[in-house]
Amino acid sequence: MGAIENAEQTQEELILGFLADGRDEYTSGEALSAKLGLSRTAVWKHVESLRGKGYRIDAVPARGYRLVDVPDRLSPLELSPLLSTHHLGQSIHFHESLPSTNEAAFRLAADGAEHGEVVVTEQQTAGKGRRGRVWVSPPGLNLYFSAILRPELPPQRASELTLVAAVALAETLREEGVDALIKWPNDVQLGGRKVAGILTELSAEPERVHFVVVGIGVNLNAGREDFPPEVAATATSLSEALGRRVNRALFTTALWGRLEEWLDLHHEVGFDPVRQRWKELSSTLGQDVLVRTDRSELRGVAEDIDAAGALLVRTAQGSLERVLAGDVEQLRPRVTPRPE
Ligand code: BTN
Repeated sequence: MGAIENAEQTQEELILGFLADGRDEYTSGEALSAKLGLSRTAVWKHVESLRGKGYRIDAVPARGYRLVDVPDRLSPLELSPLLSTHHLGQSIHFHESLPSTNEAAFRLAADGAEHGEVVVTEQQTAGKGRRGRVWVSPPGLNLYFSAILRPELPPQRASELTLVAAVALAETLREEGVDALIKWPNDVQLGGRKVAGILTELSAEPERVHFVVVGIGVNLNAGREDFPPEVAATATSLSEALGRRVNRALFTTALWGRLEEWLDLHHEVGFDPVRQRWKELSSTLGQDVLVRTDRSELRGVAEDIDAAGALLVRTAQGSLERVLAGDVEQLRPRVTPRPE
């Protein structure tokens, strides 16, 4: 790409950034030209060029411009102008297709990538779920990304970041108007069906985390026909719950903003506020559960999570069992939030 083309792109990104900041309001052409040091005609030409690339921008005489829709892609061109984070997503590694964003992010991190760098793809051919499962990742419909984090945490506290991500995910989904809840440890569900999952992977020495890769998959626009039979009964998408298409770029940048806020709070204050919020958003606590771990099955009432995010289950015999990893079956699923 030549230098002139590059400069044009930057000005277009700046225009998109200003329009995105204006949300549903109009931004006057005069304000845009003053902010960018461009003539009104130059602003108009950039707006035309953006329209040619698939951005929908309303123009109303005497009011100005308003961003109505962005192309349904997740490359830096669509995401960067909408982002309001300091670190997360400031460097985006975008791919049309990858085996797994977690694998790509892990390699980048091992080669020295910085805190906040993100790998995003339109499609995964070998998307990884928890416990060796496959994450179904058809092209162009959903969100698949992995964030590289370099937290100042001992390895045994790294799992807290998964709960941070679950809280950020549930809150971002709730902003869209759905009743998202978290099923322990980190499945985000709508109406008892899974809409998003988190896979956290770690590189560490006994005393020190080198880096953490937090991989997140969110079913945004997948329809019934996009889920293979083995997950169709237990999966859903945000668009299915809302009954309309979701703007993936807007959702993605909203999620990254929310995730960064929670990561910052976790860094500054510790796990306690995360744990409190996780509990408010949990569908698991207070439920009769059947927990399957690698070695055994356990039945009881899910009472709490502890300071490490482990599930505390009260058995019929009265003992309190601590479960660090496993699959939970909620024998009476809860679909409304706990009273706050
Ligand atoms: C789960 O089983 O609930 C975790 C699913 C995690 C899926 C995401 S999609 C982006 C990232 N890359 C992967 O291969 N997996 C995670």
